[in-house]
Formats: sequence, structure tokens, C-alpha cells
Amino acid sequence: MTTEDREYVLGTHDAELRRLGFQHQVWAGPTVAAWERAGFAPGQRLLDVGCGPGYATFDLADLVGERGHVLGVDVSQRFVAHLDAERARRGHANVEARLQDLAALDVAPASVDGAWARWVLCFVRDPAAVTARVARALRPGGAFVVMDYVHYEGFALAPGGGAAARVISAVAESFRRAGGDPNVGQSVPAHMRDAGLVVESVESVVRAARPGTALWEWPWSFFRNFLPGLVAAGGLSAEDHAAFEREWAARADDPAAFLLTPPMVVVVGRKPR
Ligand SMILES: C[S@@+](CC[C@H](N)C(=O)[O-])C[C@H]1O[C@@H](n2cnc3c(N)ncnc32)[C@H](O)[C@@H]1O
Repeated sequence: MTTEDREYVLGTHDAELRRLGFQHQVWAGPTVAAWERAGFAPGQRLLDVGCGPGYATFDLADLVGERGHVLGVDVSQRFVAHLDAERARRGHANVEARLQDLAALDVAPASVDGAWARWVLCFVRDPAAVTARVARALRPGGAFVVMDYVHYEGFALAPGGGAAARVISAVAESFRRAGGDPNVGQSVPAHMRDAGLVVESVESVVRAARPGTALWEWPWSFFRNFLPGLVAAGGLSAEDHAAFEREWAARADDPAAFLLTPPMVVVVGRKPR
């Protein structure tokens, strides 16, 4: 593991970069619905909080158009460099990438019309402080939209054999050890309220997937990348890992099997006018 990889519990290697792209496609529906609910629109200035390699950033840039602007902020040098290279390749004049820890986010007060944070607050040490910094950056009437886990261990693989539940618990524990909160969605509305935003909506997102679908592959693409390192770090026993791989392979061949994605919330908070 390089120094760069240690910036972030899931790592920033090539396979993770590709996984984030696949994940963005699989979750495009709820993502676009959240942006519509918030009123993201052409001509706006938006902030992509913890943008990663920029998969959502470029969709937001297409949404706001040439008259709009999207600033993506992330702590990972590798992801920000990827975003910047992609920006140059696509010739997107309305996208800007900034390398910054969200704990020190210093976007000019009242300078953006909206902000978006997906699967980011669950990894930061102080989500309330980050929410306050984002709220400061919003202009009156602007919306902060957060999509994040509300009950990570609510992931279910059915029929249940026990191995998947042990793996999910170990993953959640690893997020906590790294300073995150895998159930941060439960606190997001309160963080928004405390930051002076009006909580406009709280919607749940839980999806069922059957073997052979893209959504079925979504958790597997994560487990494949993450679990070997978790075993090497002592966060999961090799026996539990092997039992999980057997359980997953058996379910993948079972037409009666399905999974439930970890429950998430999409929260929209708006700065009063
Ligand atoms: C699961 S990825 C999600 C990326 C992107 N939001 C998306 O939905 O595709 C989490 C991202 O949060 C970033 N991140 C975690 N902690 C951060 C911090 N303290 N400051 C800035 N970015 C952070 C990571 O570098 C990573 O890019």
C-alpha cells in the first residue's frame, strides 16, 4: 500500500477507480432523481463534495451546461489528477478540480447554488463540521444533497447463510476504525439543521437485486477489491472470507437468491433565503 492509498480507507488504485465508475452507472437512477429533487439546473454553480475521480462531476457539468460551473473537491491526489486529466481530454471549461481535505474546505461563502456528497460523509471524521463548511458555501436558496448509508449492516444476501453478515460487520467496523461512520445518514438531517439548513426531504433508497444483474455485481465488485486487504490487515479471518466466497458463489447460481442493498438516505437541506 502506498502513502497515497492510505489517504482513504477504500484506496485509490486502478481497480478502485474502475469500480467507482461502475458504481456510478449502477446508481445513476437514484442520483439523477436526487439532483432533480434539489432543483439542480442549467447555469448553476455546483460543488461536488468528495468527488473521487469525477464520475458524477462530469454528469453535473453536463447538467449545468456551459454557463454553469462544477467544482470537485477531494483529498485524493490520484483521483483529483484523474479528474483534471479527464477535464482536459474532454475540453470541459466548466469543471474545476481541487485537492483539499474536506475538514479544511474553504469555498467562498455564498458562492454556489448547490452541493452534492455521495458516499463521502461516511468516511470523514467530523461530518457535522463538513456540513457546516458546505452550508457556508451555499448561497441563500441553495441545496445540499447527501446520499449516504443509514444502516450499512442492513445489507442482506438471501437465502441467508451467515457468512455475508459477518463480512458486512467486518467492513463496517473497518470504516469505524478509519474514523468514519457507516450509518452516518442517520445524523445527516441533524447536521444540516445545526448548520442552519432547512431539511426539505429525507428519502430512503433500498434496492433488491437478483443474480446476473448489474446491481448484483455492485457489492461483489467492492468485496473483490476490498476484502483481500481487510484479511491481510486482520479485520476479517481467512476462514470467514473463504466461507463468504462459497456463500456468494452458491447464491449466484440460485434463481431464488437475491440481495438487498445497504439502506441509504437521500437528504436535501436548503439554505433559507
Ligand atoms: C466512495 S468514494 C465516492 C466518490 C464520489 N462521491 C462518488 O460518488 O463516486 C469516497 C470519496 O471520498 C473522498 N474522501 C474521503 N475522505 C475525505 C476527506 N476528508 N476530504 C476529502 N475527500 C475525502 C475519497 O477520497 C473518495 O474519493
